[in-house]
Amino acid sequence: MTVHISAAPGQIAETVLMPGDPYRAKWAAETFLENIELVNETRGMLGFTGTWRGHRVTIQGSGMGMPSLSIYANELIRDYGAKTLIRIGSCGGMQPHVAIRDVIIAMTASTLTSPSSGMFKELNFAPCADWSLLSAAVKAAKTKGCTTHVGGIYSSDVFYAERPDLDEQMVRHGVLAVEMEAAELYTVAVRHQCRALAVLTVSDHLQTGEALPASAREQSFGDMVEIALEAAFS
Ligand code: HPA
Repeated sequence: MTVHISAAPGQIAETVLMPGDPYRAKWAAETFLENIELVNETRGMLGFTGTWRGHRVTIQGSGMGMPSLSIYANELIRDYGAKTLIRIGSCGGMQPHVAIRDVIIAMTASTLTSPSSGMFKELNFAPCADWSLLSAAVKAAKTKGCTTHVGGIYSSDVFYAERPDLDEQMVRHGVLAVEMEAAELYTVAVRHQCRALAVLTVSDHLQTGEALPASAREQSFGDMVEIALEAAFS
C-alpha cells in the first residue's frame, strides 16, 4: 500500500497500461482482461489486475497531466515492481497529414517543463520510448489496419493553451500531436530501468478544429488497448 494506491503487495502486475481516465481503466479491464480484480480505488483512480492470453496485466488510471501520472508511475515502479508501463490515451493532431482516429506511437516527447525537469537543471533531456515496445506496437497497429504515425509528440502542461507561437514552432518541427503525460512517463521509466511507451488516438485536431464524436471514442480506445497488449507481450 502506498500513499495513492491501496493494492496489497503482489496485486499489481509487472505490465501496467495507463489510461488517463479511471473509467477507461474499468472499461478496458472489463472488455479485454479475464479474472479481473479491483486493486485500487483510492481517490477514485481505479486500477484493475487481470489476465490477457494468460499474461498478468494491471490497468491503472493515471489522471490528467504529468504531475498526476508521475505519482502513479513512481509508486507502481518503486513500490510494486512494475517493469513495463504503456500509456493509452487521446491526443490532439498537429500536422495536416494526421487525421482524427489515426494512431500515434510516440518515439519521443518534448515539453516546456515536467515534474522531472527540475533535476536536469540546464540539460534538455530528450524523453524516449522503449524501442522493443515501440517496434512491436508499430507492427501490431499495422496488422490491425490502423493508420499509424510514429514520431515526436508534445507533452503539454495545459489543455487550454495560450501560446499559438509555440504550436507554430512545433508544427514546423514535425511534432505530430499534443497530449499531457508521455514525457514524464518516459523519464520516470528510464530512470528506473523500466520500459515505457505511449500509444495514442487522435481525438481532436488543433488545425482543423475537428473532434471525434463521443460515440466513436470507444472503438478507437479499444484498438489502442489491443495494440498496447500485443506490444507488451510480443
Ligand atoms: N491538448 C492537450 N491534450 C490533449 C488534447 C489537446 O488538444 N487532445 C487530447 N489530449
